Amino acid sequence: MEKKRLIYMDNAATSFPKPPQVMQAMVHFMEHVGANPGRSGHPLAREAGKIVDGARNSLARLFNADDPSRVCFTLNITGALNTVFLGYLNAGDHVVTTSMEHNSVMRPLVYLQEAGHISLDIVPCDRKGLLDMDALARLLRRDTRLVVLNHASNVCGTLQDVAAVKAVTGDIPLLLDAAQTAGCYPIDMKALGVDILTFTGHKGLLGPQGTGGFCVREGIDLKPLVRGGTGSMSEDLHQPDFMPDSMESGTQNNVGIAGLGAAVDFILGEGVENIRLHEEGLTRRLLDGIYDLQNVAIYGPLDPARQTATVSITFDSTLPEDSEGSLGCGAINLEWFGDNVSPGEAEDRLGSQYNIMVRVGLHCAPMAHRTIGTFPDGTVRLSMGYFNTFEDVDAAVQAIKRIAAA
Ligand SMILES: Cc1ncc(COP(=O)(O)O)c(C=O)c1O
Repeated sequence: MEKKRLIYMDNAATSFPKPPQVMQAMVHFMEHVGANPGRSGHPLAREAGKIVDGARNSLARLFNADDPSRVCFTLNITGALNTVFLGYLNAGDHVVTTSMEHNSVMRPLVYLQEAGHISLDIVPCDRKGLLDMDALARLLRRDTRLVVLNHASNVCGTLQDVAAVKAVTGDIPLLLDAAQTAGCYPIDMKALGVDILTFTGHKGLLGPQGTGGFCVREGIDLKPLVRGGTGSMSEDLHQPDFMPDSMESGTQNNVGIAGLGAAVDFILGEGVENIRLHEEGLTRRLLDGIYDLQNVAIYGPLDPARQTATVSITFDSTLPEDSEGSLGCGAINLEWFGDNVSPGEAEDRLGSQYNIMVRVGLHCAPMAHRTIGTFPDGTVRLSMGYFNTFEDVDAAVQAIKRIAAA
């Protein structure tokens, strides 16, 4: 049998391919720069510093952050979230988050709660993954010090209305987990009132793995999680108190940051609105293609305007437990009594028969699956990116049809 063209639909895990500029910038750094920024005064160190600061500037521009020096790099968003939680929250603080969060938010917060450091409330979301605004308002307290919100679900793509959340939370600092939206959905920190934005470099930002960070607005003070050499104020045995140095001890992933800077410049060049438009079109094509399929349930808003280019499905003949008909699953034929195809089997068949790369299971977000009704088996997740084409989507629709009909 002729080997099918590879179709990568696992961009919510990490984007692939990357723009060629990303590799070129990384190779350039390795071949021609190589030095450690901020550590020495020679021309190569200065050039390395220029590249890293260039990446900071580009990210600040992309997110409309007020000060590029308040963009700090970490190895991924998990590092950024841990740095912020441990550097910002004091003993006794109250934190509010949502039932759609990734384990990168849930695990550190639950750890801090169980250690008796913070108290934590989790706002429920509906079966489409949308936040219950009334519950959010009810759960806020006078001692709430942080609200942590997943901008878009990595499970089913659901986008939260950040401006509406901010209208409810008011002056309480809002941390946005933009892992699934940075680079593929417009984010204006100032207009939205986002106080802390966390991002990972290797998904929608199209940069290399091992990059990420956070932008924090003036007025929010963070204690460093890691202390050590920064290249600045070497005479002082205390950590510098200015950003980004206070938050970036030790030699960073500068090769990766060079690649990330090139990736963000690529995004700024294309226009994040155009990237969003393309991804919205792909999502519409996929949803339209599978909406009426027998034996396939779709999760999430089922509306390209209200989700990212991530679509979760199961090959099911029955509605998920305790569903009421108004849930996000739109395309279920209850007269179909064929055997279900498990997510694992679907992944196998999509990969081996159709050369389509998807991810199945719980996607590190068990509470999100409880919310949408797919715990513990999870879903088959097709997550598209800027480099996917309509042809890719049509091939995925055909493959899903065949699997559903088998
Ligand atoms: C919403 C969300 N938050 C956090 C993460 C963690 O990302 P990383 O592994 O880059 O730290 C992911 C990754 O899937 C995610 O989707």
